[in-house]
Amino acid sequence: MKKLNVLLNSTALIVLASANAQAQDGATTYRQVCSSCHETAAAGAPKLEDKAEWESRIARGMDSLYASMHSGKCKIYVKDLRRDLSDEMIKTTVDYMVSQVQQEPHYLKSEY
Ligand code: HEC
Repeated sequence: MKKLNVLLNSTALIVLASANAQAQDGATTYRQVCSSCHETAAAGAPKLEDKAEWESRIARGMDSLYASMHSGKCKIYVKDLRRDLSDEMIKTTVDYMVSQVQQEPHYLKSEY
């Protein structure tokens, strides 16, 4: 019985460890899942490097971007095809994408 307990405990640990591996950062998920479209404009996706395109999307507010992950074109590719991605993970990845856009100088701002 003790042996079985040890076995069960280590199985639980392995399950925990793989759950942790899935809770990866937004940058990794972006590279693995999103970049196939958002680096190449595949399927008409806005390229992440297209700052002007993203500035106007970001201007609608983060909630609107998150909501798009549950409706519209991107949802079909992300939520429907990658059911393994949690809502939280997708949100983190959207945050990462927005942070990438905002890292660059804002050439569109009024000082120009
Ligand atoms: C198969 C192609 C494809 C993949 C993969 C993909 N997207 Fe998209 N994404 C699109 C398209 C197409 C649009 C434009 C949809 C629109 O404007 O209606 C879009 C738009 C978006 C938007 C903007 C939504 C808005 O409201 O303006 C965000 C944010 C986004 N994607 C995030 C992601 C994230 C995060 C991932 C990875 C987890 C991802 N996308 C993976 C195709 C893709």
